[in-house]
Amino acid sequence: MPHPPIFQTLRDIAPTISVGLLTADMLSVGSELGVLERTGVQLAHVDVMDGCFVPMMTLGPPWIRALKSRLLKDVHLMIQEPLTKVADYVAAGADMVTVHVESGPHIHRVLQLMGRMANINDGTRGLIRGVALNPGTPVETLDPLIDELELILLLAVNPGWGGQSFIPSTLRKLQKVRRMLADHQREVLVGIDGGVTKSNIADVAAAGADIIITGSAVFDGRAAEENALFMLSAVEPYRKRR
Ligand code: DX5
Ligand code: ZN
Repeated sequence: MPHPPIFQTLRDIAPTISVGLLTADMLSVGSELGVLERTGVQLAHVDVMDGCFVPMMTLGPPWIRALKSRLLKDVHLMIQEPLTKVADYVAAGADMVTVHVESGPHIHRVLQLMGRMANINDGTRGLIRGVALNPGTPVETLDPLIDELELILLLAVNPGWGGQSFIPSTLRKLQKVRRMLADHQREVLVGIDGGVTKSNIADVAAAGADIIITGSAVFDGRAAEENALFMLSAVEPYRKRR
């Protein structure tokens, strides 16, 4: 399937950050998004947890619909059986929807289904279909899915909580994914999610990640604006070299 226009938009700004809202002030999320907009951040990463695939629960489609922002909504579904649920997230205004390869028996069908859906924010934009891998899942599981996705999201922590430590072997996994994509001759965005801090973000960008999720290092309860600006400037040098 050819890439949608949103793919090129993201390709042009990669590497970039997608800021996780998990540790933002949920009761002031509108102004938290305003802070991100002022810094030039372009993606907001929304972690959806269902209390089954992961123990914690967060909010679902009505909350995503309520997020009023020009930021692209990067929705990471840590939920079981996304096949019957993914349409609600697209209808709520997701620009990117990532499902876990471990979350159900029909991931290929989920991707095919999303390939037929329109972006409700802008019908010409298209959707990014992402597949996430837990740290313990081998990259080979992606092989049959490559033609039906635009984003591979490698979890650098076990999903379920913000503020965990980065698992170093994720960077080796990233190299494996790059080799797999070269074999398939398909251009796909690669994201890294979890444990990205001010001290390791440059290493993650240097390793070739396109979209770097960073949550608690930005929304630390103190200086979100300053933190976001730091993270954006840390990845900037790697954009010029590509
Ligand atoms: C883990 C989530 C991540 C996480 C990122 O379950 O998918 O998006 O919240 O947060 P930090 O950057 O704090 O690891
Ligand atoms: Zn996430």
